[in-house]
Amino acid sequence: MHPYELIKRKRDGGLLEADEIAQFIAGYTEGIIPDYQMAAMCMSIFFNGLTDAELAAWAGAMLRSGEVIDLSDVPALKVDKHSTGGVGDKVSLSLAPLAAACGVPVPMISGRGLGHTGGTLDKLESIPGFRVDLGVERYRELVRTIGCCLIGQTSTVVPADKKLYALRDVTATVDCIPLIASSIMSKKLAEGIDALVLDVKVGSGAFMKTLDDARKLATTMVGIGREMGKKVVAIITDMEQPLGRAIGNSLEAIEAIDMLKGQAPADYTECTMKLTAKMLELGQAAKDETEARARLQAVIDDGSALKKFAQIIEAQGGNPAVLYDYSVFPTARQVVPIPSPVSGYITAIDTEKVGMAAVALGAGRERVDSIIDPAVGFVLEKKVGDKVEKGEPLAMMHINDAARAATIIDRFQSACAFGDEAPTPRPLIIETIE
Ligand code: URA
Repeated sequence: MHPYELIKRKRDGGLLEADEIAQFIAGYTEGIIPDYQMAAMCMSIFFNGLTDAELAAWAGAMLRSGEVIDLSDVPALKVDKHSTGGVGDKVSLSLAPLAAACGVPVPMISGRGLGHTGGTLDKLESIPGFRVDLGVERYRELVRTIGCCLIGQTSTVVPADKKLYALRDVTATVDCIPLIASSIMSKKLAEGIDALVLDVKVGSGAFMKTLDDARKLATTMVGIGREMGKKVVAIITDMEQPLGRAIGNSLEAIEAIDMLKGQAPADYTECTMKLTAKMLELGQAAKDETEARARLQAVIDDGSALKKFAQIIEAQGGNPAVLYDYSVFPTARQVVPIPSPVSGYITAIDTEKVGMAAVALGAGRERVDSIIDPAVGFVLEKKVGDKVEKGEPLAMMHINDAARAATIIDRFQSACAFGDEAPTPRPLIIETIE
């Protein structure tokens, strides 16, 4: 295999064989193929794409670059969920205990915040003591014994992606659907799952801004799953405004706990119910969506979903007292209202801008080595379609660095658009791709 020949063929629109792709990725992982040749290959893929067969080979080679976790000693079907990322998306925190409480084991390897989007690991770590670096052995043990474990990427799982993602990040090849799809799917398929629900977000707060792109990404990921013999369903959901009301790590963890108590905002509750119901169907814990939703409601009503979260928190070193006493979470020194600059209806929220305002507060990372502040963020008082009077709070800002308040208020206000009429409501659940 000559890397030069393969790059040239892909550059010129030719096809790569599965064994060529396997050798190329293995060579890159082992350091035999240098970054500059992989960068050239990624750019060729950016312009020429991958056929279905090439994509399956690419994703498979990524998956086999490291350990594929074996959970075959857990008898039930193991099901996970992956979101392509958004603002206020704390679904994983409520979905995992809900599914586990219904008997569907959830092995979940998650990520940290990326750009304007929040990350599950950062949200979980706002729970005092909660550890996401447990290692594969403990992960296996917790999935087997309590039906769930939520950890971060390990160095042994899909090492090709770790290298490749960092390379793509600095060579303008992140926003490439076949590379995104194979990156996500290789990591998820290495978790030891039998089935996967994908939440593909679309809108101003998502990486996919158009329905067309969201559909393409969803179809590509479902296709990879099918090639790998796994049941994968993608649900496209709206990210034209933040999900729920809380944005920021401990604030979102609190909203997730509220969901398990049946007290969370309707949009976030519905998004969680829809995705978790699909997990129950794929995990054969319910025959259809109606039965799945009834089971989920039952574990909320009888407190067993909350108890499951307590078990998960305790097993991962966290303090389960957070479930009943929110003052155990880190809290910000100041809570400052963000006043509406005008009277009228909120017609749109530029959700990426709101996410970046949360990053500026310290809820996300401005640089790779930034330390995030778990306490800060926003709680929305108004959402799209709500009427607001001038001076009335649009949101409450939880802030530790008061010197930044004025700038961030400005940024938040400029992310909101106002008009004389309420806009037509958009559907939250847009499409399911099986
Ligand atoms: N998330 C991933 O895990 N990989 C990508 O390529 C993009 C988003």
